[in-house]
Amino acid sequence: MSEDIQKLIQEDREGRRKQIWKGTTLDYLEIVREDPSITKLSHKRLYETLMKPGVEELNLEENPRLKRIFKDSKLKVFNFFKDEFFGMEKTVSSIVRYFHSASLKGEESRQVLYLVGPVGSGKSSLVERLKQGLQSENMYVIDGCPMNEEPLHLVPRHLRKEFSKMLDVEIEGDLCPICRYKLKEEFQGRWEEMPVKKADFSIRAKRGIGVVPPVDPNNQDTSVLIGGEDISKLDIYSEGDPRVLDLSGALNVGNRGMVEFIEVFKNETEYLHAMITATQEKHIPAPGRHGMIYVDTTIVAHSNEAEWNKFKSDHTNEAILDRIVVVKVPYNMRLSEEVKIYKKIIRNSKFNADIAPHTLEIASMFAILTRLEPSNKCDLLTKLKLYNGEEVVEKGKTKKIDVVELREDARNEGMNGISTRFIMKALDNALSDNIQDNCIHPISIRESLVQMIKETDFPEDTRKRYLEYLQDTIHKEYLDVLEREITKAFVYSYQEQAESLFQNYLDHSEAYVTKKKVKDTSTGQELDPDESFMKSIEEQIAIIGTACDGFRQEVIAYLWSTSRKGEKISYQSYEPLKEAIEKKLMASVRDVSRIITKARTRDEEQGKKYDRMVEQLIRNGYPASCVDTILKYAANNLWKD
Ligand SMILES: Nc1ncnc2c1ncn2[C@@H]1O[C@H](COP(=O)(O)OP(=O)(O)OP(=O)(O)O)[C@@H](O)[C@H]1O
Ligand SMILES: [Mg+2]
Repeated sequence: MSEDIQKLIQEDREGRRKQIWKGTTLDYLEIVREDPSITKLSHKRLYETLMKPGVEELNLEENPRLKRIFKDSKLKVFNFFKDEFFGMEKTVSSIVRYFHSASLKGEESRQVLYLVGPVGSGKSSLVERLKQGLQSENMYVIDGCPMNEEPLHLVPRHLRKEFSKMLDVEIEGDLCPICRYKLKEEFQGRWEEMPVKKADFSIRAKRGIGVVPPVDPNNQDTSVLIGGEDISKLDIYSEGDPRVLDLSGALNVGNRGMVEFIEVFKNETEYLHAMITATQEKHIPAPGRHGMIYVDTTIVAHSNEAEWNKFKSDHTNEAILDRIVVVKVPYNMRLSEEVKIYKKIIRNSKFNADIAPHTLEIASMFAILTRLEPSNKCDLLTKLKLYNGEEVVEKGKTKKIDVVELREDARNEGMNGISTRFIMKALDNALSDNIQDNCIHPISIRESLVQMIKETDFPEDTRKRYLEYLQDTIHKEYLDVLEREITKAFVYSYQEQAESLFQNYLDHSEAYVTKKKVKDTSTGQELDPDESFMKSIEEQIAIIGTACDGFRQEVIAYLWSTSRKGEKISYQSYEPLKEAIEKKLMASVRDVSRIITKARTRDEEQGKKYDRMVEQLIRNGYPASCVDTILKYAANNLWKD
């Protein structure tokens, strides 16, 4: 074996050896005296785990986009969830709130945390994150205890009061039958000599983390939850002997940490009662005739809404319902965040194709449209943009619709629609249809989505609606985007041209509003504001006739107030004007774009312009492998003759 490999193994082993602490209960008591917080119960441990990476408070006054979405002036970002969960602020803060109150030993510490949401909304991932968080924690346990018991359980009842005072801890819970037996038989009651060790939480080793998968309803053996008796040992020991116990159920191994119940309501009610007793009474039955066992665990259950509704509608379940803290996990509804979800999933996968600009946006836009409920205040695409914190311009004005009200009008929004998994499959399909270029783009993703919608078993009206989003709403939206991108690539130094139009427009409209003259920068001549120039911009967003006066005043008022606040202004500062300027620029090259892009043969001059445009697109992030396909699509669909 080569040296470096050996060295690595050696170092790892030494590192691990250092971490392992072993001692007696007496030693442990000294450690507790130094730091009583190590005896914390499961909810508190989880709460501290998820608060450890910190909380950021965003000041929304500095972020107008978020301010429009959330309205409040502050937004808390929990770093523990930040890099993996997007557009779930409400869900995450409900989860944190649950753990906070449970950590204070309120009523919620005796209730199940239950996540409900549609398929693929991130429920399992949230629970996974909590489990991972626990894995970086460790605890002191009675060495050899199958339930990794808190060693303080060894302190005899009659001494607890004094020890509590001395160590400044609360002592809660009793020994499991196995440790009790060991204490009596092997240590003759000398509890302070019982061995204690430090152990880490581990999903794989089932240490402090238990999982209950949905169980076959015909075979609901409670051993999955509470363990059983080892039949082979029943021959050796008598029936009441704790040595026959095999405490390997999820509620046993999840002691000190957490237990996850997957698709929880698929289980029989009897099963659920064990779950409830575990949280409510903090006790579970031991298998056979061994009485009850103390447990300290956080139960996190999840399922989809259909199961939940079915369960909820049965009034015999009331007792269980009363002991559940429900947290909704709806789909994300923010375009920018949906894109981040796919970027994350792609980053964690072997997907290594080129992705053309707007591909994930188009897919995300579709996903979100399917999740939105119609509103009588605006159309769905507008709603999508408002939810995304964008300003939507109509007739030269930004639309004044309250996003919070929109959300309140549709309380169940986000519990239906297309899942993240569906979109990921569409991305995979788009790629496998285009292996040779190893590239996906908005056109191929849209086609692949159309194909999948046609093949999937949706109710007829749903299918029609989904196809309409793809073939109409999104198609048009993409063409708009595409035209803008091509224009940007055609117009030499687009940004500068836009800024200069903007400055000019400001000079003229300011002079117009304040009834002054405009000074020509090169000749110094004093001129009247150029009405026809201003109109050529305003007409782009259908501001004509008497509306022009008002528009100019609004622009000037807006920009004055912006610059008074010390903010830098640019052509993008005032949304309606930005749109007008971009449209003006597009119009100015529309003929050139159309002729050159559509041409089958180009003369030398046109050829040069075309090549320069393609190069610019590539510089703007278009993969060379699919830029031709995209331009062909533009030629066939944009600028209809
Ligand atoms: N808002 C979100 N932020 C980040 N990732 C998300 C979000 N919603 C879904 N995902 C991702 O989508 C994928 C599917 O999520 P997950 O398996 O957690 O869903 P689920 O709610 O458990 O679904 P099911 O009900 O089908 O079990 C995961 O990769 C998950 O990380
Ligand atoms: Mg799941």
